[in-house]
Amino acid sequence: MQRRTVLIGGAAVLAGSAGFGVYSAARATAGYAAYSTQLRRPLDPHGGVAELVRLATLAPNGHNTQGWRFHSSGRAITITPDFSRRTPVVDPDDHHLFVSLGAAAENLAIAGTALDMSGNVAVGNDGAIRFAWQSGTAKADPLASAIVRRQSTRSLYDGRPLDAGTLTALTAAGQRDGVRLVLLTERKKINAVRDLVIAGNDRQMSDPAFIAELKQWLRFSPASAIAHGDGLYSAASGNPALPDFLGRPAFDLVFKQASEAAKYAKQIDSSAGLAIFFGERADPPHWANVGGAAQHFLLEATHQGLACAFINQPVEVASLRPTLAALVGEKDLRPDLVIRFGRAPALPFSPRRRVGDVLTTA
Ligand SMILES: Cc1cc2nc3c(=O)[nH]c(=O)nc-3n(C[C@H](O)[C@H](O)[C@H](O)COP(=O)(O)O)c2cc1C
Repeated sequence: MQRRTVLIGGAAVLAGSAGFGVYSAARATAGYAAYSTQLRRPLDPHGGVAELVRLATLAPNGHNTQGWRFHSSGRAITITPDFSRRTPVVDPDDHHLFVSLGAAAENLAIAGTALDMSGNVAVGNDGAIRFAWQSGTAKADPLASAIVRRQSTRSLYDGRPLDAGTLTALTAAGQRDGVRLVLLTERKKINAVRDLVIAGNDRQMSDPAFIAELKQWLRFSPASAIAHGDGLYSAASGNPALPDFLGRPAFDLVFKQASEAAKYAKQIDSSAGLAIFFGERADPPHWANVGGAAQHFLLEATHQGLACAFINQPVEVASLRPTLAALVGEKDLRPDLVIRFGRAPALPFSPRRRVGDVLTTA
């Protein structure tokens, strides 16, 4: 066989495998879209406890580890931490874990009303949560419908400010006893927080333990996101989905301090404002309470057609907390959450584990 024939044959094989690659990537993406549509289907008002827990698990949670367990007994659902899913580097005192539990409990309370299972949330001293419900008071609630549409949208927003009415509705949604919410729309203050986010990000990216922990929770391909049902799926963070064997080296290549800093600066500059949450005390019940208030805020934002994303670097890097708190006039409190908001199209949704994996019944 002549050299030219071999080359043409080789090119054909390459083109064929590239074509197959494109075809199978398209199939995998379509498969993820179907998985996500099922995960985020509108709530079924007759779905009972399993449906209520499905909606609770759609709450935001640190690194999408879903460090929660649900137990249903009679007319009560308890949520307890699953410490096997902690992230000790980014969250050494389980602050994010308890915030996430509180956000899940807020979904129980809001969805419960729409499912004829309305009830009350009680947080114990250890941060475990009990939701006791009763029937007979079903009521449609736009925030309940927003649960399946809420997401962390980690992209550029459109840069437009929000009107006063929308800001008032957001502020009201995030109010709660024991929680303080500061909304920033003034550019000078937003810029100061942006600088703290970048300082925190620089610190985290220079810590090999932080990177190693983060990598454990990255899911590059749709198949891996579906198989794990947890973690940070590339496409849900606005990055291309890739086969896992390509995703890991690509991540090492592009995940650099300077480019991440530039990305965060642009994202924050494009946002209409920031919401900063403080619990009045720094312990698991107050963290869970902050999670509930923040989730109420996020659902109101979703209902208003807004996008939100967490930028928590200045609360994760402990040495930056006092500067952040002082910047917004809360120098005696530990800041719990920083969230940016604005307008942007939705990204692909993040995965979740199955209800059967997190719910036990007495
Ligand atoms: C306490 C807490 C801290 C978080 N911190 C960050 C953060 O610093 N950066 C980020 O991009 N997302 C952060 N998130 C968002 C989670 O990664 C996100 O909720 C999770 O991946 C699930 O995705 P979803 O919100 O789109 O459902 C945080 C969420 C919670 C509850």
